[in-house]
Amino acid sequence: MLEIAINSDQPADEFYADLISSASALVDGEVDAIANMANIAALIWQYVPGLNWAGFYRVVDGELVLGPFQGKTACIRIAIGAGVCGTAAATGEAQRVADVHAFPGHIACDADSRSELVIPVVHEGRIIAVLDLDSPLPDHFRPEDETGMVRLINAIARNLG
Ligand code: SME
Repeated sequence: MLEIAINSDQPADEFYADLISSASALVDGEVDAIANMANIAALIWQYVPGLNWAGFYRVVDGELVLGPFQGKTACIRIAIGAGVCGTAAATGEAQRVADVHAFPGHIACDADSRSELVIPVVHEGRIIAVLDLDSPLPDHFRPEDETGMVRLINAIARNLG
């Protein structure tokens, strides 16, 4: 098994460089999307501070279906366009929400969640999934977290589809 050690306290650009190289090494040579999503959810859960949920929803037959994740049990199906995840899937744009209670249509899977970051996963020109990160801390996700997670997902998207 790959040995991974990432310092979560270092500056964001160095942290995300380390996270992306570990994520790339984890999925390298593996074609099974579910296995790769499972390891990426676990990697993020272990090294990104302040999360209460980290995982994927996959686009299946025109809706989002719960995929590999870490955290409490969650909603299984989300319509494209509904909530933060469905908005990311409908627009193709990352959603960084400082206060989920102020987001129209937010779906409260875990009542502890206060802020959220959702990144669309694009493969061969189609949105195939979203990465969903939840935090119990208000306004937890910084612009550099959005940029870093977009870079991470773009780096490994071909191994998630
Ligand atoms: N809060 C999300 C639903 C997924 S859970 O947080 C795991 C949303 O509004 O899309």
